[in-house]
Amino acid sequence: MEKDIQKILLTQEQIRTRVEELGKQLSEEYADKNPIFVGVLKGVVVFYADIIRQFTGQCQLDFMWISSYAGTESTGNMVVKKDLSSDIKGRHVVILEDIFDTGNSLDFTYHHLLAKEPASLKICTLLDKPEGRKAGITIKPDYTGFVIPNEFVVGYGLDFNEHYRNLPYVGVLKPEAYNS
Ligand code: IMP
Ligand code: MG
Repeated sequence: MEKDIQKILLTQEQIRTRVEELGKQLSEEYADKNPIFVGVLKGVVVFYADIIRQFTGQCQLDFMWISSYAGTESTGNMVVKKDLSSDIKGRHVVILEDIFDTGNSLDFTYHHLLAKEPASLKICTLLDKPEGRKAGITIKPDYTGFVIPNEFVVGYGLDFNEHYRNLPYVGVLKPEAYNS
């Protein structure tokens, strides 16, 4: 598996340190708010599990599963494969995402959740690729782990055709790995 990785962009240590910082910040800002952390499946699972364990207050967990991706290209066509199981009306909600690229997924998720009338709605993304942003996307992440260049990355939950999610770091794939 590692033979397919061209370079490691973020090491386990870098990710751990940054996730601790984000967890501390969220713990301070949501101390008495009993927030609902909404994870956008599946890429977020590793980040999600790490961040909630850094959160020191009371919180609740929920998940959405939306889909648009085939290979490395975003189609912009979103379908809800799994909606929330809890009622978020009047609650403080933080969306957790693996990566903010074109913005299609988060824009869709954000407005889908906003319609359910939460008391507040914020976005926390592990990775942000600002150069990938589609024109017309107005939402912005409130909490960002790392801003990264416009390269396709895998690991720490992120996949290419469902592979590499279990790598403990974030790396750039070798071009030949796309064709294997
Ligand atoms: P967006 O809708 O283009 O912002 O992309 C959001 C989703 O696309 C993420 O949740 C990922 O599943 C996927 N994605 C975007 N960029 C990458 C990448 O570099 N590696 C792996 N998945 C990516
Ligand atoms: Mg994905």
